[in-house]
Amino acid sequence: MPDNYEFMVECAPSGNLGDAIYDIKQRSEYLNVISRDYTDNKDTVPWFPRRIRDLDRFANQILSYGAELDSDHPGFTDPEYRNRRKYFADIAYNYRHGQKLPHVDYSKEEIETWGKVFRQLTTLYPTHACKEHNHVFPLLMENCEYRENNIPQLEDVSNFLKDCTGFTLRPVAGLLSSRDFLAGLAFRVFHSTQYIRHPSKPYYTPEPDVCHELLGHVPLFADPEFAQFSQEIGLASLGAPDDYIEKLATCFWFTVEYGLCRESDKLKAYGAGLLSSYGELQYALEEKAEIRPFEPAKTALQKYPITEYQPVYYVAESFEDAKEKMIKFASTIPRSFGVRYNAYTQSIEVLDSKPQIQRLVNTIGSEISILIDSLKKL
Ligand SMILES: [Fe+2]
Repeated sequence: MPDNYEFMVECAPSGNLGDAIYDIKQRSEYLNVISRDYTDNKDTVPWFPRRIRDLDRFANQILSYGAELDSDHPGFTDPEYRNRRKYFADIAYNYRHGQKLPHVDYSKEEIETWGKVFRQLTTLYPTHACKEHNHVFPLLMENCEYRENNIPQLEDVSNFLKDCTGFTLRPVAGLLSSRDFLAGLAFRVFHSTQYIRHPSKPYYTPEPDVCHELLGHVPLFADPEFAQFSQEIGLASLGAPDDYIEKLATCFWFTVEYGLCRESDKLKAYGAGLLSSYGELQYALEEKAEIRPFEPAKTALQKYPITEYQPVYYVAESFEDAKEKMIKFASTIPRSFGVRYNAYTQSIEVLDSKPQIQRLVNTIGSEISILIDSLKKL
């Protein structure tokens, strides 16, 4: 629009920024301050990545480095395992957007651990996993060398996902904050570990490992509806206040990690925490487990344990239905702008002005005419 300009200014805080902001506020119709340092100021929006390469910034703000193990970790007293964990953590720490995901030569022992987990879980998938998981799994065997005696490479898996839904993987060096982890999903980027659990306990891991990511998460990210559902959680998180980040992380937990869905009149699992745990996958589908319908506003308040079986599981009628509910819930998050992912530029558009929304309406308008035109040809 003539006489109407918008500026996005990125600045490193130094000098008297407060005065400058005050000054700009007086002279402009609309001002939004986005900052890492937002906790004391209600008018400030928490910083969030706008471009996909901004995700590189998460690499050096992990909550714990993957090489540091707790004293009750099965690998705590094993120097060789700890060394190996450092190797994986360093790969992820140095990874930058656009690079190939580093190839890892897994040891014989690591492959054996993977084989044990793979063998056990694949006996349950036909009866316990949702149809989407069972549809994609053979394709992963065909295209990404998913098999008992081989740990698939993240690069191959990421390329496969990219072809299916645009999802890609990024290696992660340790635990990310919920805010950062969820922000990745807004870009259809999943932060994935690359190390494997300790060989002394092949059927137990206190943290996500490559078995959990590749067997649990990856097959679902290849499903278009599920990919969109996951991205909605990510988009809802951008610039959201802390209490809403916790709610969204809880929704993520009870869907992407521990979700159940209904197929005809049977319950099936689609959550990665279930699909990567032989014991809990069976437990969750038995009659004694408590189940409730997935309702984001209610589910978001449920407390949960991290290292035990869940006290309750939430059932989605379908991914489409879960997505619609998630979008509705997102609209209750106090945020002075809307967000949209632009897949061409791999960036987040912050929708906070009429001209922008008008442009978006025009784009959607031309897409609708393509649909109408195609319908006429049928
Ligand atoms: Fe997970």
